[in-house]
Amino acid sequence: MKIFVTGGAGYIGSHVVKLLGEQGHNVLVYDNLSTGHEWAVLAGRLVKGDLSDRQFLRDTLKEYAPDAVMHFAASIQVEESVREPLLYYRNNVINSINLLETLTELKIGYFIYSSTAATYGAPEASPVDEDTPLAPINPYGMTKVMVEAVLRDIAAKGDFRYVALRYFNVAGADREARIGQAYREATHLITRALRTAKGEQEKLLVFGTDYPTVDGTCVRDYIHVEDLASAHLLALMYLREKGASDVMNCGYGHGFSVLDVIRAAKAVTGVDFPVELAGRRPGDPPELVADSSKLKRLTGWSPLYDDLGFIIETAWKWEKKRSAAKD
Ligand code: UFG
Repeated sequence: MKIFVTGGAGYIGSHVVKLLGEQGHNVLVYDNLSTGHEWAVLAGRLVKGDLSDRQFLRDTLKEYAPDAVMHFAASIQVEESVREPLLYYRNNVINSINLLETLTELKIGYFIYSSTAATYGAPEASPVDEDTPLAPINPYGMTKVMVEAVLRDIAAKGDFRYVALRYFNVAGADREARIGQAYREATHLITRALRTAKGEQEKLLVFGTDYPTVDGTCVRDYIHVEDLASAHLLALMYLREKGASDVMNCGYGHGFSVLDVIRAAKAVTGVDFPVELAGRRPGDPPELVADSSKLKRLTGWSPLYDDLGFIIETAWKWEKKRSAAKD
């Protein structure tokens, strides 16, 4: 298939592009390289472009004429979204609408969308399934809820089908350490822990120790980026086989606390890096664990790397190889 991938030079997008290439698909990556990297595109062709440039987007899509689109391009930091909400509504909502308008005009009808567990806010249920009411507690989560609503309404008209994957905590890297997280400012727990072990960061702060969880720190469902990547390909095959539009959680179904992750990171790296207990970070729900039974049932997804130690090992291998200068 010919697949147009927005944000394909970013962390998650680049792992999906790699897998699409390995499985013989033809890929065109459309990325403005604001946080993505040319070196991360291991398959297909890269076009540097912005989703706000509607003319260029339309020309590129018309010429490439893809069978399907995967849409990763977005701003993704919860804290930043609280400080800069308009940036998030523009990048995530308006740009998605630009893309969707162009796709409907060109009659491109298969779409895989990067959504997030942040759409649930701070759910009481654990694990959460897709019927849990959406109640985001930050602008980032709200932008994803809004685009999910747009997708639902477009699909209801016919000729357009989509799967929105709600990602939980994506971590780890390519097993051969060719690609991985390469943000100048790391915000994610595992990446920060490893950068602390590497000495790039002085200490790791634990944000909040008084949550109603097993040890007082937040609990998350960490999923290896390559398992997440395979879910995208399966979701696309599901649509091609006439599957109905749907929203599917993507996680392993069990959680680890911040302290669990720190212990595992120390064991993998062999470094007893400095850790400091700190106050809560605004916008953090106590616990987010996925019920992914729908994804498994509808697409046959069967994860291969459900092992926190392995996730951290791949991230560590990448982190040791990564050059901050190339972030
Ligand atoms: N944390 C720390 N210290 C740090 C960094 C993080 O204690 O230096 C804690 C956070 O407070 C949180 C947990 O580690 O409790 C995980 O934090 P991350 O920043 O790694 O991830 P989040 O759970 O905040 O968010 C991630 C994605 C979101 C997505 C969400 C869904 O970044 O886009 O997972 O589960 F919505």
